[in-house]
Amino acid sequence: MIIRKSPAELEKMRASGLLVHQILQVLKEMVQEGVTTMDLEKTAERIMSDAGARPAFKGYYVRAVGATYPYVLCTSVNDEIVHGMPSARRTLKSGDVVSIDTGVQLNGYYGDSAITVPVGHVNGRVERLLQVTREALELAIEKVRPGNRLFDVCGTIQQHVEGNGFSVVREFVGHGIGTQMHEEPQVPNYVDPRNENPRLKEGIVLAIEPMVNSGGPESKMSKNRWTGVTKDGSFSAHFEHCVAVTSNGPWVLTRP
Ligand code: MF3
Ligand code: CO
Repeated sequence: MIIRKSPAELEKMRASGLLVHQILQVLKEMVQEGVTTMDLEKTAERIMSDAGARPAFKGYYVRAVGATYPYVLCTSVNDEIVHGMPSARRTLKSGDVVSIDTGVQLNGYYGDSAITVPVGHVNGRVERLLQVTREALELAIEKVRPGNRLFDVCGTIQQHVEGNGFSVVREFVGHGIGTQMHEEPQVPNYVDPRNENPRLKEGIVLAIEPMVNSGGPESKMSKNRWTGVTKDGSFSAHFEHCVAVTSNGPWVLTRP
C-alpha cells in the first residue's frame, strides 16, 4: 500500500529533509585528499545528535544481509555502488569519488539523500558519470506530478543514463518514504513492465536514487556482505532526493 502524506506530515518530512541536506553540505566541504570516510561518519553523527535526530541507517535491519547496519553513513568509494562502510583505513585520494548517503528520523518522519563527490582531480569520463547521474535525477524529479505514473520517473532515468553511454544498476532501487525509511512503492531506475506502475497522487513521497555505472550494469556483493560493487570494477555514482507529489508539482524535500 502506498501511504499518502497530509500537508502537516509533509512539513515534518521537510524538516528531516533539510537536516539531511545540511549534513551533506558539511560533508561535501570536508571531502579532500587525506580525509578518511570515518572522519565523515564522526562529523555526521555529531550533527545528528546536536539536532536531536535519530540516525536512520545505524541499527537498521536489512533482511537481505540478516544484520543491522552499524553506521550513520554509507560511504561508497569508486567501484562501490551502495552500502560502503565508513572506515578509518579508507583515506580518500585524488581521483576517487565518494558517494555519501545518509538519513535521519526527526519527529517520527524520515529524510534520506545522497550525493557523489569527486576528490581532487577526477578523469573526464568520471566527471561525465557524475554529471549524467545528477541530470538523470533532476529530469526524474520533474516527472513527480499528479497524473504522471511511476514509470515516467523510472523511464526518464534509464533513458538519460543509457542514452549517454552509462548503465543503470538493477539490484538496488529507490523507495517510498515517510514514517518508515522504506515504504511502497519501489522506485527502480529502469522500467520493467512486470512491475506495478501506479499513478502519482498528491501526498506520495518518493526517494529517487539513480545508481549509475561507468561500465556494465552488473553488480556483485563484496566480501563484507554489505557493499554492492560493480562487477567490472568500473566507477559508480549515486544521487538521491526525497520528492513529494503536490498540486504545484514536485517538492524536493531534501534541498532548500
Ligand atoms: N539510502 C539507502 C536506502 O535508501 C541506504 C539505507 S540501507 C542501510 O536504502 F542499511 F544503510 F540502512
Ligand atoms: Co534511499
